[in-house]
Amino acid sequence: MPYAKIVGTGSYLPPRVVSNDELAAELATRNVQTSDEWIVTRTGIRQRHLADPGVKTSTMAVLSAREAMQNAGIGTDEIDLIVVATSTPDFIFPSTACLVQAELGVMQGAAFDVQAVCSGFIYALTAAEALIRVGRAKTALVIGAEVFSGILDWSDRSTCVLFGDGAGTVVLKASDEPGIIGAQLNADGRQKDILYAAGNVSCGKVVGDPFLRMDGQAVFKLAVNALAQSAKDVCAEAGVALKDIDWLVPHQANVRILNFLSKKLHIPLEKVIVTLDKHANTSAASVPLALDVAWRDGRIKAGDLVMMQGVGGGFTWGSVLARM
Ligand code: UT7
Repeated sequence: MPYAKIVGTGSYLPPRVVSNDELAAELATRNVQTSDEWIVTRTGIRQRHLADPGVKTSTMAVLSAREAMQNAGIGTDEIDLIVVATSTPDFIFPSTACLVQAELGVMQGAAFDVQAVCSGFIYALTAAEALIRVGRAKTALVIGAEVFSGILDWSDRSTCVLFGDGAGTVVLKASDEPGIIGAQLNADGRQKDILYAAGNVSCGKVVGDPFLRMDGQAVFKLAVNALAQSAKDVCAEAGVALKDIDWLVPHQANVRILNFLSKKLHIPLEKVIVTLDKHANTSAASVPLALDVAWRDGRIKAGDLVMMQGVGGGFTWGSVLARM
């Protein structure tokens, strides 16, 4: 049975960078009070990239995919699977993955979306890995892409300061050498009310509330414990020790969650990739964006053992262990 190995990464961030101070000034014009001091202290976020109106998830996904394909040295003729993790698809249907396939000029294989909110990339990577392992695909693009700015209520300071837009892609290829060596997914639908965007489109109208709502403290508590347990479980299953992990690439929601995680798992902070200060929380895009940053700046090297982790709405969470 072949392994599935990450052979290239790529990312795209919209060019408009909005600092906390700029955001606070803009929100003040709407009578929404926040500050750089509050955002940095409570979250670690210093800025976010925001897409201009009209920029679609598929557009950013394609740009990150092109970069990943170039990085991996593969052409469109080799790709036989595209999985896009997103909660902000261009359309109800067709899937964003199909739009990406068409735009890239890929003429073969399967394409589908995965909806697991901030855990979406971990779910998508696990699905693609499974298809490669059983021989149903050989070369996959696994993409996390979001325009979360489109589902934020800019009058709700407890959520609108937290998120950003972006896309990240990995190329996953069948290989004789170990690549992904462990994966673990979880969901607890009973926690559906702590993080949701409960709107819908029916009979041509938006029905319900289309904006993201979150009970931040409840999510925080669940996230820390869920990620810590998942890390232990995936390592136990794969037969590796937590101390053998070279890099932890967790979902980028709050630096305090990452600090707790580092303590709970005894993984020093120097081994935790942190990009939320620059990207904020980009939901399904956060893990592939962080992976791409650390791969390109040379921290993550071939042969390193990397644990990627996602957590978010659903409630969903999970971990993937990959030998790079
Ligand atoms: O991506 C999916 C996973 N998401 C997460 O993991 C998010 C997890 N949760 C969190 O990161 C944190 O809970 C938050 C960053 C969302 C909030 O931090 P917190 O320390 O839990 O703050 P809080 O919600 O308890 O709010 C504390 C105070 C409140 O004021 P009072 O009631 O104490 O007077 C809020 O109204 O901070 C106030 N507040 C703000 N103040 C200035 C909330 N948002 C803001 C804001 N600026 N943007």
